[in-house]
Amino acid sequence: IMANWAVWVGSVRKGSYNAAIARALAELAPAGTSIDILPSVAQFPIYDADLQAEGFPAVVEDTGARIAKADGLIIVTPEYNYSVPGGLKNAIDWVSRLPGKPVAGKPVLIQSASQGVLGGARAQYHLRQILVFLDGRVFNVPEVMVGKVQTLVEDGSLTDAGTRDFIAGQLKAFSAFAESFKK
Ligand code: FNR
Repeated sequence: IMANWAVWVGSVRKGSYNAAIARALAELAPAGTSIDILPSVAQFPIYDADLQAEGFPAVVEDTGARIAKADGLIIVTPEYNYSVPGGLKNAIDWVSRLPGKPVAGKPVLIQSASQGVLGGARAQYHLRQILVFLDGRVFNVPEVMVGKVQTLVEDGSLTDAGTRDFIAGQLKAFSAFAESFKK
């Protein structure tokens, strides 16, 4: 199966554990899948309808186009204060205003990681709610919520074998799910 998945990371810090998981996806996805890591959400200005009226910022157009042409969208994010990080929400708000509605009908996979035991579970459910209005097709099970992630990543690489296997299994299931939406 040849497929291209766009990956959006909810953390912008250099040492991000969620970014480490995002980087591992290329190794863990089924053979033939290419991974496109989307521009950092730090590049998006604060959403402003007046700015939009002057034309969408290039990063918004670029991100939207890359999501539109992808066979699936994967969002890998931390949880901030029991919810979606503001930077990621802001980037989603911009993309949601694009006339082409790039997320509508798109297979979407949510992953999260945190240093606590719940692995960002609460942020995942808020993200699902947001994706209802964007009309994404959000994959359900198995869920990947990586708790105590600081014990599973070494030098920026996801090294824990059990976590890698679990994510690979989820990606295999997501691949079949995404394939079922291909026209
Ligand atoms: C956090 N963190 C956090 N963790 C969690 O499990 N639930 C939460 O609600 C929060 N809230 C929260 C708010 C803010 C503002 C920060 C900065 C952090 C901790 C978080 O899981 C931890 O910093 C992760 O390492 C962040 O992910 P990255 O940057 O490593 O990808």
